[in-house]
Amino acid sequence: MNKNNFDINSLIRPNVAKMRPYSSARDEFKDFDSEMIFLDANENPFETNVNRYPDPQQQKLKSILSKQKNIPSNQILLGNGSDEVLDLIFRAFCEPAKDNIITLPPTYGMYSVLANLNNIENREVLLDSDFQPDLDEVSRTADKRTKLLFICSPNNPTGNLITSEKILKLLKTFNGLIVIDEAYIDFASKESWIKKLNEFPNLIVTQTLSKAYGLAGIRLGVCYASAEIIAVLNKIKPPYNINELTQKFAIERLENIIKIKSDISLLNDEKIGLLKALVEVTFIEKVYPTDANFILIKVDNAEKRYSQLLQKGIVVRNRSSQPLCVNTLRITIGTASENKKLITILKTLE
Ligand SMILES: Cc1ncc(COP(=O)(O)O)c(C=O)c1O
Repeated sequence: MNKNNFDINSLIRPNVAKMRPYSSARDEFKDFDSEMIFLDANENPFETNVNRYPDPQQQKLKSILSKQKNIPSNQILLGNGSDEVLDLIFRAFCEPAKDNIITLPPTYGMYSVLANLNNIENREVLLDSDFQPDLDEVSRTADKRTKLLFICSPNNPTGNLITSEKILKLLKTFNGLIVIDEAYIDFASKESWIKKLNEFPNLIVTQTLSKAYGLAGIRLGVCYASAEIIAVLNKIKPPYNINELTQKFAIERLENIIKIKSDISLLNDEKIGLLKALVEVTFIEKVYPTDANFILIKVDNAEKRYSQLLQKGIVVRNRSSQPLCVNTLRITIGTASENKKLITILKTLE
């Protein structure tokens, strides 16, 4: 899809297209640092450090992300976790009971939860045995009411990247919006697709501070897209969706990018060690390659091994109910001592 034949207006829900953004008190007056007297938002004037509403546009946080990622602030939207960003995308573009989306299982479960919640048909096109999308099947499955295609890369729970060739082909041919969920991209050997935003107006990239950035508890997800798409999402987001504490905490962490990078590098080193050690465990039949901070393994009996690990105090995720994932467990990379303990225990199981 190129810029000449793409019209975002044809994809927006009619009611959303007509909406004007809700204007909050803090939208109308943004000058937080001045010595003004704020009697406009029915806040409590007594200082608690959080008695004022947070910046609804999170300008400071976005300007840091903008510099680090080399993407203008007007192409960034922040959400209460990337789960909120994904929900906003559904609500902006998918007309309940009329439109449909395509997902590529086995994949992240929230796409189907959000489709259900928003009363949108979820058309599932299974990945192939290499966990790559079947492009012919995607094109056969799409119709005029297919608004979104979700590509999770690196994919959860399989851990692999979707190949650039496949994604490029989809970006060029798919008639709706393509959402590439890059929750795990910071662990991957390939670059983010955010570099391609200006080339593909139908591309939306979501990322999160929950994984590599170590901030799952503050709930901060990021959406990168064209300024036009971001403007649509901005119209429908709750005015103060990113709270003050989250904004402060994220700014602090992002300002120490060296520490983030060193944590990622430590985890990737741990992953290499864990991959080698898992291959040697007798009941593990397959260790899948991974570009994420987790490893999918196929075992002889997932339920049995899951329970044995639980009894020893180690919680992993049994993914056997997912298509193509019979007898698989998903293991997150922990600290060096946690991983060592995991391997020691795995080797003792009978
Ligand atoms: C692929 C994928 N996307 C999104 C999320 C949710 O991220 P957040 O914590 O930003 O809501 C997860 C969490 O597990 C995930 O695996």
